Amino acid sequence: MTNGKTPVAILISGRGSNMAALVAASKAEDCPYRVVLVAANDPDAGGLALAQAAGIPTFARSHKGLKRAEFDALLDAEIRKTGAEWIALAGYMRLLSPEFIAGWQGRIVNIHPSLLPLYKGLDTHARAIAAGDAEGGCSVHIVTPALDDGPVVAQARVPILPGDDAESLAARVLPEEHRLYPQALADLVRR
Ligand code: GRF
Repeated sequence: MTNGKTPVAILISGRGSNMAALVAASKAEDCPYRVVLVAANDPDAGGLALAQAAGIPTFARSHKGLKRAEFDALLDAEIRKTGAEWIALAGYMRLLSPEFIAGWQGRIVNIHPSLLPLYKGLDTHARAIAAGDAEGGCSVHIVTPALDDGPVVAQARVPILPGDDAESLAARVLPEEHRLYPQALADLVRR
């Protein structure tokens, strides 16, 4: 810890809006975590530029051509260099190997755009609408080796309205993700 704040690494694969929300929240004096690394498995991930603009060290390396365990070992080494104590997945579109997850002892967290245990995996909003659900939302959960399966620590709900499509529902859920994730991560690192 430096300045009493717990160091956190964030993994992304894309635009990084949740990462940016985590970083923005970390600037508050009373936020118990600070972001020490943003790492991407896609060098073209849009979020990398956002992280750099915020002065956060970044690491980018494509997973292509490497076995999952090899790539994860490389990632693990980069993260450990920073002294991170927690890892937050923010749109990280790759399953982590059981070895990687075991090395972090319940200190990897993820945000998923559904009310887990409903709709693990992709196309969550379209599936919620197709099922006729009255509500959608997002969940923050601890990462275990099975996809989107670990214990849920926080959820936010939004209504599904007549005429909604996946895009309009995603647009309603995303601000809730940006509010929920920093709060849930802060609660976790304070425990
Ligand atoms: C979010 O909807 C998140 O819940 C899901 O992937 C999306 C990532 O968006 N895991 P962003 O990269 O954080 O903008």
